[in-house]
Amino acid sequence: MVLRDGAPTNACLLMMWQVEGADIITPEGLDAVPESSFVRQGLIEENAFQCGYCAPGFTVTLTALLRETDDPSETEIREALGGNLCRCTGYHSIIRGAVRAVALKAADAGQGA
Ligand code: FES
Repeated sequence: MVLRDGAPTNACLLMMWQVEGADIITPEGLDAVPESSFVRQGLIEENAFQCGYCAPGFTVTLTALLRETDDPSETEIREALGGNLCRCTGYHSIIRGAVRAVALKAADAGQGA
């Protein structure tokens, strides 16, 4: 999962000609996106540990959601994560981590106001 022009995109399904000129942010580049820190902290606090495929995918997708939505509902979070499929059972902790990330972002915004 990468951000392609800000949108979460399955990189493994893209051909190189489809990304020519696009702004690409990989999971390794998420430090440049401030919202990613809230996502990572929220997932850590809720013990939403995933494998090496899922953790970056969920993190990229949730970062994109927090970039475009200030206060997403749990329903919006679930809809955003609809394309992130895990074969394990971590969905509940992931949702809790996402909700926590939203709260962390809101708290940070409140401090800046
Ligand atoms: Fe990756 Fe479930 S944690 S498949």
